[in-house]
Amino acid sequence: MKNKILQLLKENADNYISGEDLSRRLDISRTAVWKHVNTLRKDGFEIQALPKKGYILKNQPDLLLASLVQDGLQTKALGRNIHHYDQLSSTNKIARGLAEDNCLEGTLVIAESQEEGRGRFGRQWFSPKGGIWTSIVLRPSTSPFQAPLFTILTAVSVYEVLSDLLGSDVGIKWPNDILYNNKKLVGILTEVRAEMESINYLIIGIGVNTNFSTAAFCEEVAIKSISIQEILGKSINRASLLQQLLARIEEYYIHCTHNGFKDILAKWKTYNVTLGKEVNVESHDKVSTGIAFDIDDDGALLIRKEDGTIERFLSGEVSITSSSPFSGNKYQ
Ligand code: BTN
Repeated sequence: MKNKILQLLKENADNYISGEDLSRRLDISRTAVWKHVNTLRKDGFEIQALPKKGYILKNQPDLLLASLVQDGLQTKALGRNIHHYDQLSSTNKIARGLAEDNCLEGTLVIAESQEEGRGRFGRQWFSPKGGIWTSIVLRPSTSPFQAPLFTILTAVSVYEVLSDLLGSDVGIKWPNDILYNNKKLVGILTEVRAEMESINYLIIGIGVNTNFSTAAFCEEVAIKSISIQEILGKSINRASLLQQLLARIEEYYIHCTHNGFKDILAKWKTYNVTLGKEVNVESHDKVSTGIAFDIDDDGALLIRKEDGTIERFLSGEVSITSSSPFSGNKYQ
């Protein structure tokens, strides 16, 4: 109900709307209107009330509240059910619990900041206020072997939305790091719960360095990271960016679950900054060196080693070798 009040206040942005009008249009008492207005105020909305005139919305909080993310959201399932937190451990962790409790497909967990943000390979993920830290619950009816392809799908979606915003310096490093001028802008962490034949759920965790300075990170991470605010020299509307990301992910999710991943893999090959380069791939405590020449239909990276043999990786950490003719692009 408070979202409906917010909607009416937004539609009347330039005029006061009386408590009586709100109560009539929503079929609730004026006391109920007053209570919902106070809840909105606690959420950070600045709502002015004047006797004989009514209510007017003066300011919205810079938060990824469900009411702000869902206002104008162009999706059918993604983001229709949102759990928003000011601070929590990790959105992936909370999303996992919700998925175990059979939450709806497309459920989103959003945090303004995370205390134990998780990165790939058990690394810590710095998640201060001002970022987009979110996890999506998906339930595709596909084989568990296709799980990595959903990460590829997410990377392609995020790449497209961010390259529209930031231009041609955005790239994808295999499998799913979104870089800007060789620095990390977005991380994606997919977790899966599956049986032999089928996926129970996938958690797609997305972290976008948005409206903050990465200088606050520890030095080692700061030199490899960048944020949208640092690139554009100004902060952006996070709710609007999240809406665009969700719409693109949903579009490709529907496409791939109906038509397979051929088109997404082709897009990934166009957008990536890994293929054609000499790389080190670190996987299971072993480092292999070779030319990254393709990804296969499962999204696995194929490298050709100096002795001509081919190695295939379903997961791993890629860096461009210092002896590569492309070593100017040192992705970490
Ligand atoms: C990586 O190491 O590149 C993946 C980082 C993924 C970070 C996001 S932030 C939202 C979600 N919750 C987490 O704890 N991690 C992911």
